[in-house]
Amino acid sequence: MIRLDGVGKDFGDFTAVRELSLEIPEGKTCVMVGPSGCGKTTTMRIVNRLIEPTRGTVYIDGEDYKKKKVEILRRDIGYVIQEVGLFPHRTIAENISTTPKLAGWDDKKIKKRVDELLDLVELDPDENRNKFPRQLSGGQRQRVGLARAMAADPPVMLMDEPFAAVDPITRENLQNMFLRLQRKMKKTIVFVTHDINEAIKMGDQIAILKQGELVQADTPEELLANPKNQFVADFIGVDRAIKILDLFSTDEVMWTEAPVIKKQSMQDEARKLIESGEKGIPVIVEDEQGKKFWFDLDELEKEGSLEDIIRPLEITLDPTNSIKLAMARMLEHNNDAVLIKGEEDEEPGILTLRGIRNYVYRICESSPGEKVGK
Ligand SMILES: Nc1ncnc2c1ncn2[C@@H]1O[C@H](COP(=O)(O)OP(=O)(O)OP(=O)(O)O)[C@@H](O)[C@H]1O
Ligand SMILES: [Mg+2]
Repeated sequence: MIRLDGVGKDFGDFTAVRELSLEIPEGKTCVMVGPSGCGKTTTMRIVNRLIEPTRGTVYIDGEDYKKKKVEILRRDIGYVIQEVGLFPHRTIAENISTTPKLAGWDDKKIKKRVDELLDLVELDPDENRNKFPRQLSGGQRQRVGLARAMAADPPVMLMDEPFAAVDPITRENLQNMFLRLQRKMKKTIVFVTHDINEAIKMGDQIAILKQGELVQADTPEELLANPKNQFVADFIGVDRAIKILDLFSTDEVMWTEAPVIKKQSMQDEARKLIESGEKGIPVIVEDEQGKKFWFDLDELEKEGSLEDIIRPLEITLDPTNSIKLAMARMLEHNNDAVLIKGEEDEEPGILTLRGIRNYVYRICESSPGEKVGK
């Protein structure tokens, strides 16, 4: 666990970081975002003691970090620096083995670790270990930067814009690779980015900074639902409702108990549902071949004719897919509902456009004070 307690830094009369208090639980990722010059890199350098804070201190696992020897502290903290910063005249293997060498590992152990790390970041060890950084692409260099930071298996990682300066597809691949690794490694991570989308994707917690001050620190869900002020709202962007779509999976929003009725007898069964007082629910209809359709009970009450409102249910998604993917599929197919596979012997669910609309609206509506996107 890392705790920043009133940490600040002045450079002469200029205050780069005012007074930052922040707690990052063990095994979690805290993403710091904010405009250029707001003090993100300075904060990282303080945590790694590359610079001394003017005020406050950092606690690692409850202990004031100044009590630790700097070499020990740095061994326990992997640092991916902004713009990668590989040593240009050292090979990839030599770059990665920097910390293990300092820690006095023997050559055999180091060699094994280098290959293991190259594999981990999805670079072929035989092809890459003897190359120099200039012989790699930007994305490959970023992978090596990551491998170097992870070399001595530190419990804490500081990652300063680790996936910046590559094309969006490479960036997405790197993000996904890292998320897969982190699921197993469970390191405590401070991750810096300019990009709010990256923050939402990578962070368990997001800390928004402005001119050396912490404006809001919250989970991505909370931040999107309740931006504290206009600065945060602007930073999140006018498409906050769309970003929310990325955060929730279909099984969190779908109907799980939609009635399933037979197509042959659907008129009767629909009437029974209305008579039994059901309201505002989607109904799944199945024909003799197992083909599925659906309609909305409210709509039936208004329109009166089942033939006019029944529509095919032709898209099936997994419960782990995002509601954004569900929306995309609906738009592509001019549909307004998708079927969500049931896990094992569970009944399938149904996710409707109306359901998504209400869900997102409820989250956005709960925001106090200023409304976003005006
Ligand atoms: N050694 C230094 N001496 C004087 N001023 C500095 C020093 N290091 C940083 N600063 C100033 O402190 C402020 C914060 O810098 P920092 O590098 O932390 O920003 P950042 O949030 O990482 O920005 P970016 O997103 O551009 O990387 C900037 O105004 C910068 O000019
Ligand atoms: Mg920076």
